[in-house]
Amino acid sequence: MAIRHLMSPLDFSVEETERLLDLANDIELHRDTYSNICEGKRIATLFYEPSTRTRLSFEAAMMNLGGKVLGFHSEDSSSATKGESVADTIRIVSCYADIAAMRHPKEGAPLVASLKSSIPVINAGDGGHQHPTQTLTDMLTIRSLKGRLDNLTIGLCGDLKFGRTVHSLIESLSRYPGISFVLISPEELRVPSYVRNGMKSKKIPFSEVEKLDAETMADLDILYMTRVQKERFFNEADYVRMKDFYILDREKMALAPKDMCVLHPLPRVNEISVEVDDDPRACYFKQAQYGVYARMALILTLMGIEVSK
Ligand code: CP
Repeated sequence: MAIRHLMSPLDFSVEETERLLDLANDIELHRDTYSNICEGKRIATLFYEPSTRTRLSFEAAMMNLGGKVLGFHSEDSSSATKGESVADTIRIVSCYADIAAMRHPKEGAPLVASLKSSIPVINAGDGGHQHPTQTLTDMLTIRSLKGRLDNLTIGLCGDLKFGRTVHSLIESLSRYPGISFVLISPEELRVPSYVRNGMKSKKIPFSEVEKLDAETMADLDILYMTRVQKERFFNEADYVRMKDFYILDREKMALAPKDMCVLHPLPRVNEISVEVDDDPRACYFKQAQYGVYARMALILTLMGIEVSK
């Protein structure tokens, strides 16, 4: 059987994505059924960049499935510091593990690894490019909370230029009917042209605005906040100027629709005030929990493991 990797959320068809999300929902409901299904299997988490949620949720996912975990959490703690390439690294890791999740600051690094790998490789975030497992998490969250992935108006707010989760989410949701986007960012942090052109070519309705106000939020089903990505800025002064451009606080939430869900891939810095956390529309911590179910479903899907019921 050909090895299947995940580099972009578009690697899965809409039908395959729906099957994976169904599996994630089943895992959520029947945790015990899946608790030993990966006994004897190992996931390698190869993280060349910092992470809390993605790395730990992959590790939790494999442990929840009865498998084991190995890996490194920074470039400094691997032989990359001695000059080893990702291609050589994955060849070695293929001898030790059954599946690998890789985060790397360079766009395309997980793809390079996948070309030399004899185990499935998952892109766990590559530079400012893609973050497909965050997208699966976001889609699972939206579908679970709203009951659908079609006919939604999604507001995306903050750093839409460097926020890789935004690029992946727009591309994925653009495949569903009745989707429209409100892109809320300062001029300098607008979505890259390839993302904008993709929406235009698919005739997806979208608007680009700067203000996060009552008018902008009026029709939103989802408000997806993002942090300004400090690590992708070329100079500190630009980051400092941009970092507090948006702060979603209680006052702003009073202007938002009563059934709007607020999502955020996290980590948050200042863009959502902690006073919003108790608002029933604040769903970003639930979203992190959905990330475990999405990654459990992904591990099973890429390893071709099915539960017998
Ligand atoms: N959402 C996300 O990718 O978080 P981490 O950087 O903590 O993995």
